[in-house]
Amino acid sequence: MDDFRDPAEPVDETELAIEGALRPASLAEFVGQQKVRGQLQLLLDAARLQQRPADHILLSGPPGLGKTTLAMIVAHESGRPLRLSSGPAIQHAGDLAALLSSLTPGEVLFIDEIHRMARSAEEMLYLAMEDFRIDIMVGKGAGATSIPLDLAPFTLVGATTRSGLLPNPLRDRFGFTGHLEFYEPHELERVIERSAVMLGVTVPATAREEIARRSRGTPRIANRLLRRVRDYAIVHGAGSAATTDDVHAALDLYDVDSIGLDRLDRAVLEALVKRFRGGPVGLSTLAVAVGEEPETIESVVEPYLVRIGFMGRTPRGRIATPPAYAHVGVQPVDSVLGFDDL
Ligand SMILES: Nc1ncnc2c1ncn2[C@@H]1O[C@H](COP(=O)(O)OP(=O)(O)OP(=O)(O)O)[C@@H](O)[C@H]1O
Ligand SMILES: [Mg+2]
Repeated sequence: MDDFRDPAEPVDETELAIEGALRPASLAEFVGQQKVRGQLQLLLDAARLQQRPADHILLSGPPGLGKTTLAMIVAHESGRPLRLSSGPAIQHAGDLAALLSSLTPGEVLFIDEIHRMARSAEEMLYLAMEDFRIDIMVGKGAGATSIPLDLAPFTLVGATTRSGLLPNPLRDRFGFTGHLEFYEPHELERVIERSAVMLGVTVPATAREEIARRSRGTPRIANRLLRRVRDYAIVHGAGSAATTDDVHAALDLYDVDSIGLDRLDRAVLEALVKRFRGGPVGLSTLAVAVGEEPETIESVVEPYLVRIGFMGRTPRGRIATPPAYAHVGVQPVDSVLGFDDL
């Protein structure tokens, strides 16, 4: 079971490089997320007119929906340099102090997985975000003193797959929070169309539709499936033109089912329906049953299953809905507990 992994995580260096190449560089090129896009545009336009750094921005949502891409776009569109860091890299307040004090005026600081930053650093960040100032502690015990340090004004862009884990004081200090939603199939078709051109592969509309339908509402997955389809067409088909048959064959080979669920999604659904008879079952019990971390189930698997109406969250735990039974091919038992709570 340990070959399960986050289906939307980049796999390796090569994939990261390809992702970089396929990343849209401006809001205009960024497909979908109309609401967040409009809100960001206004924020950036206002900052530009007033010649000041934009307000701090928090981007939340499941993996692969475009948080890092948007952070890069914010820097690009405001013509400011971008500094990249991440929560796990900030394990002490000192790490953050070093980072903040080295920023140039107006720089955009991107902190990915900001919910994983150390507590002590979080507290330092409150003051930095609000007043562009930090207090540096010197010495220990009774002789310790704090030295205030002024910072250059900056724009913080934080990204998180778990906004619920952010302490309120931190969340409140962002001028704008954008929540990214799963993409509609027609939006993913546009992502695929654009990426196909960049990858030099011809994909007819019907094949694009099929890939989009099976991409779990996620551009990163759409791009990845497109590359597998391209591989398949090169090896077994007509070279750089992919057919719908190539799409079916390639996606079947990679265990992506007819509605885009992968092995981990299906394992969770099957455990829920067969082993726990539809639930309600607690998150950690469900995670143990499929041999995964509860965090992965909660931030990667669940959001999509809930979104397509296959899973419900109740105060007593997770439950399977009738479409989930149908997908797994099991008849719902007579009294499925928990539906009332939906
Ligand atoms: N709106 C979009 N239009 C076109 N391509 C997109 C869009 N959003 C994301 N992508 C593509 O999907 C890939 C993944 O996006 P990104 O790295 O921004 O996701 P993320 O939300 O930061 O994920 P994670 O939580 O794993 O860090 C990008 O390389 C980009 O090519
Ligand atoms: Mg990212």
